[in-house]
Amino acid sequence: MASAQSFDIEPIARFNGASAGIRRPKEITCFSFDDQHKYRWDDSSLRYYHPPTIPADLNRGFDTFRALDDTRDDHLDGLVDTIALHEKEKGAKVDADIITWRGMMTKIMATPFSKLESWEMNATCFQGSIFIEENHATKLFSKQQQNQQKMPAGTPSQDIMSFWGYKFETLSLIPDTWDPTSREYIESRETEIVDNHAQYCSIVRTGFGKIKMIIGGEVDAVWDVKPTHPSSTPINYIELKTAAKIHTDRDQAKFERKLLKFWAQSFLLGVPKIIVGFRTKDGILTDLEEMETQAIPEMVKRGKGFWDGNICINFAAGFLEWLKTIITEQGVWRIRKVEKSSRLEIFKIEETGHGDILSRNFMDWRSSG
Ligand code: A3P
Ligand code: MG
Ligand code: MG
Repeated sequence: MASAQSFDIEPIARFNGASAGIRRPKEITCFSFDDQHKYRWDDSSLRYYHPPTIPADLNRGFDTFRALDDTRDDHLDGLVDTIALHEKEKGAKVDADIITWRGMMTKIMATPFSKLESWEMNATCFQGSIFIEENHATKLFSKQQQNQQKMPAGTPSQDIMSFWGYKFETLSLIPDTWDPTSREYIESRETEIVDNHAQYCSIVRTGFGKIKMIIGGEVDAVWDVKPTHPSSTPINYIELKTAAKIHTDRDQAKFERKLLKFWAQSFLLGVPKIIVGFRTKDGILTDLEEMETQAIPEMVKRGKGFWDGNICINFAAGFLEWLKTIITEQGVWRIRKVEKSSRLEIFKIEETGHGDILSRNFMDWRSSG
């Protein structure tokens, strides 16, 4: 096995200053999973925002939650299969240095300010692009560990807190644009079965510095309507998030730290607005706040200043430029972040092939031309 190489996280001051050039994210295609989690190359699962009635109890319906089984490893399947369909339609290959899920880029961007986090990813190079996936086994393992952590009595379980997020979506979204019959649906949202099988994903072209990227990620909803023709104006997507109500200075600090992920996640896909549903410690939704994604870094700077968006962008650009010099051929590399470590480690775990990172479908298509 080749020896490990590493990319220094510290000192983060070297990533200070104006951010590397950013290509504004532009959607190239999208896809959906229907309510059976069956793939569809369309926007059928896109939902629309209509404010929830507050206060609302986010616990209601936990016993009937239809939760998607997340123990299965889907690798990059939905993303690369959609790219294949898009390429067949266009008659041309997409041009990208990096192709990955938005969640991977969020973790990379947050690295300079997430000392305590640990994660593992797998990466391979295929036809000039680096494909990055989450290492699923590590993710499942850390989730298990989290669930076993002793929490103070009365703390809600991880499962219930995760349910609150989906419940908030159910209370705030409608399956179609508003029309007079929506009123009936809106009135029934409180008793609607919470179900996270359906998903809508946007795939965008974007870039930091010299790095061109194609990123896919789930989008919760659209504010108004999605333009039918490719347009130069950004799509008014929205991201929904729940957060604990802020009472003390400490709560404020915790919230501002959380904003790093909210911001990076939305920024990467060009989602302009985040709607935060504030809840009590028992899961009662009491307040709503609309935040403009682009205003968040400044807000945090004026607040506690725990993180800096430009450093996140410059770190990601620097790391990916470096990665491009390492992952230049077939084989599988592991990228690893260990809690408290001041560097990201990379080592080759398979000498040939692409592991299971790429779907058969995608490889067959790309190898047929
Ligand atoms: P909250 O973010 O409001 O907690 P997203 O916000 O990314 O659209 O995800 C929707 C919801 O899925 C989250 O709502 C949360 O409830 C749940 N969720 C997302 N990632 C999770 C994770 N790693 N573990 C547990 N639940 C998660
Ligand atoms: Mg979501
Ligand atoms: Mg959300």
